[in-house]
Amino acid sequence: MADDNSQRVALVTGASRGIGAAIGYALAQAGRHVVLCARDQDKLDQVKQQIESTGGSASVHTCDVSDGEAVTALVESVAGEHGRLDILVNNAGITRDNLLLRMTDDEFDAVMQTNMRSVFVACRAVLRPMMRGKFGRIVNIGSVAGLVGNAGQTNYAAAKAAIAGFTRSLAREMAAKKITANVVAPGFIETEMTDVLPDKVKELAKGATPVGRFGLPDDIAACVAFLSSDQAGYITGQVVAVDGGMTMC
Ligand SMILES: NC(=O)c1ccc[n+]([C@@H]2O[C@H](COP(=O)([O-])OP(=O)(O)OC[C@H]3O[C@@H](n4cnc5c(N)ncnc54)[C@H](O)[C@@H]3O)[C@@H](O)[C@H]2O)c1
Repeated sequence: MADDNSQRVALVTGASRGIGAAIGYALAQAGRHVVLCARDQDKLDQVKQQIESTGGSASVHTCDVSDGEAVTALVESVAGEHGRLDILVNNAGITRDNLLLRMTDDEFDAVMQTNMRSVFVACRAVLRPMMRGKFGRIVNIGSVAGLVGNAGQTNYAAAKAAIAGFTRSLAREMAAKKITANVVAPGFIETEMTDVLPDKVKELAKGATPVGRFGLPDDIAACVAFLSSDQAGYITGQVVAVDGGMTMC
């Protein structure tokens, strides 16, 4: 099945750098108009310029996804401006790592608010425009930590595991409306988020990755581009690990 001839509109959160920026490029290369969202206008503008320099179409909206009202307003504004919203990629995420014995309430709550609650609010807000368009592709970025756990990341793993259960339930609710919902669960990907980790942790992660290298943001973006394409309409409620084989079973 060929893609819809008119330009689909995609909203990508956390698109100012790393995996989110790579997803923005990939969706633009696939012919989407990409709405890039994060908190930093300057960085978003740089991503937009790079997309446009290769012939893609993009716009930017600043938004703090931990603010539910702001997320709802963002979705309504994008859907109103373009008259449609076809694709949502919930990618924005943070870490506040600590062993559970020492983890503070703030560390737990911040991760749940930014990584999980934002997904609930954004997904809820896109359903009406997607139903109106009789098409929708939702891709939520999880993590292998949500599948197999990771010491020091009880908060992060809980949020990412919650995203998987949430997405499967959403997929069941929306399947008959031609709206799919899937999770992409990255393994260890080279970004500023992982750059700060100690070398010992990086060595352990590489050793646990059968393909023998860290992932690149483009590895994740390629999967998101496919899951958000018209051709992926028969895939829903799945958690796809893009992890170099780290969690195969
Ligand atoms: N890098 C990895 O190895 C890895 C592995 C598994 C999952 N992930 C997930 O992939 C996603 C992207 O990770 P990354 O490595 O590119 O991280 P990153 O830190 O490089 O980028 C995160 C992006 O999210 C944005 N963001 C953070 N908090 C935000 C907020 N409150 N409001 C709006 N935007 C906000 C940042 O500005 C940035 O654009 C995250 O959800 C992360 O949990 C990453």
